Amino acid sequence: MSQDLMIALTKGRVLVDELAILAKAGVEPLEDPTASRRLVFDTNQDRVKIMILRGMDVATYVDHGIADVGMSGKDVLLEYPGTGYYEPLDLGLGRCALMVAGLVDESELPSRLRIATKFTNTAKRYYAERGVQVDIIKLYGAMELAPVTGLAHRIVDIVETGNTLKANGLRSIELITQITTRLIVNTSSYKTKFDQVRKLIDSLEAVL
Ligand code: PRP
Repeated sequence: MSQDLMIALTKGRVLVDELAILAKAGVEPLEDPTASRRLVFDTNQDRVKIMILRGMDVATYVDHGIADVGMSGKDVLLEYPGTGYYEPLDLGLGRCALMVAGLVDESELPSRLRIATKFTNTAKRYYAERGVQVDIIKLYGAMELAPVTGLAHRIVDIVETGNTLKANGLRSIELITQITTRLIVNTSSYKTKFDQVRKLIDSLEAVL
């Protein structure tokens, strides 16, 4: 007997693309999540539901098995410490880059830099791997302001078009990694709901 399959999607710019790819794979919500305040939706498929979460929370819900499957940016997955999920597919959506950026007219910098970011784990790893000592400052948004105001020397942030950097007198300095949206699957769900999960992975793979 089939059980409920919960799919977690990311609220925000990438949601429309996630819904489109899911629709091509045969799963469509009965109500449009982009025009509703609801957070959980029934779909055209019996026993398949969709929940809409903040990007940072998709990995948490899938890691804990509340959602069986999720679509999450690689930036969040790199930051997330849990290991309770597989990452079977690169969905190719939400293409952007995780970059180190700084002021265009960067004056002489001290040997130990202050780095502002919301991706603190990834930033720590990046500098540690290079043997560079830095101080990490955690911010939750508007990272670009940090070098402008002197809070930090550089930032680690997502760059898509580069417009936000440019508008604030900043430039990309180093590429940390390219980012896309990944399909993730809870490791237990992959076993206990194998047929349903596999069917979804195969359908998504076929439309990519
Ligand atoms: C991201 C990032 C930059 C901006 C880059 O923020 O933090 O501010 O997008 O995009 P661009 O290169 O096309 O200008 P987002 O809008 O996702 O909001 P957030 O601050 O909540 O992450």
